[in-house]
Amino acid sequence: MQLQVSAQIETMVSEGHISSDDAMRFSQFVDTCNTQFMTHPVITDNKYCQWFATGKAHRENIKHFVVQFSVFSNLFLIAQLMKVINAGSLEGMRASKEILANELGVIFHKEGSKIGDVNDKDREGDPDIVSLEGSVDGGRFRFRAAHFEWIVKLGEVLDLGFNDLGKRRNGTPSTLFFCDQLTAIYGNEDPNIAEGASFAVENWAAAGFWKQLIAGLEAFKQSEEPKLPLAFFTWHDKIEEQHAGHVMDELEELYFTEGFDEEKFIAGGKEMLNGVEAFWTGLNEQRIALDFKD
Ligand SMILES: [Fe+2]
Repeated sequence: MQLQVSAQIETMVSEGHISSDDAMRFSQFVDTCNTQFMTHPVITDNKYCQWFATGKAHRENIKHFVVQFSVFSNLFLIAQLMKVINAGSLEGMRASKEILANELGVIFHKEGSKIGDVNDKDREGDPDIVSLEGSVDGGRFRFRAAHFEWIVKLGEVLDLGFNDLGKRRNGTPSTLFFCDQLTAIYGNEDPNIAEGASFAVENWAAAGFWKQLIAGLEAFKQSEEPKLPLAFFTWHDKIEEQHAGHVMDELEELYFTEGFDEEKFIAGGKEMLNGVEAFWTGLNEQRIALDFKD
């Protein structure tokens, strides 16, 4: 996967917003991002996700995976709140609040549609039908629209109780390392470092790991657990597809903002990818250990 400079840059040059030297510098920076981020093994060669997608995970693997993912998902709220607090602009703060409030259960509201916009009141917040577009501004809060509650529902089918999920004490050292790195780097006070981490996380997410997880979970669902609700994963996959196209637009905007620091951005991104990698390596080591146990 390679990042490409969009045609927007040429338009910015021709309209006189930036010089052709600026455009050249930007293009060189995108090359640096390609060599520093896009070749990272967590993007190009995630062994756990590759294995998971083959459908070989058995019940113990799936349960361990769900618990660790629930810890990441719940502790991510801390990192996202840090990002809100440390935002460098009102616009940035609002963009971060969109993610935080949606995680907690505020359903995206699309302009022109009625609030809630669901005919079946009993299903409001259901990840199978909940909106992928719009803003939390004007959206409705539903407890059951919280992403963590979607995992709790998934856990129920696997005999995982509320207290088996999402707590620090449920995390392995590698999962906790990842979560702590998210808070420290993604939620960093220095916007250059935080933005580098965001950019890296978005590119990791766009590299297709949701689809690999869905493939593995589908296989388990078909063979062993027909009631397994997968909407937590399918919802995130769909939102990721939508977002993938925006990543370069965001970088273009950021790059030409005063005070942008290339080195800090790259350092933040690389360190964050190492954190992400620790999470998946931990899961991979655990599944190999389980294989040996059999
Ligand atoms: Fe989420």
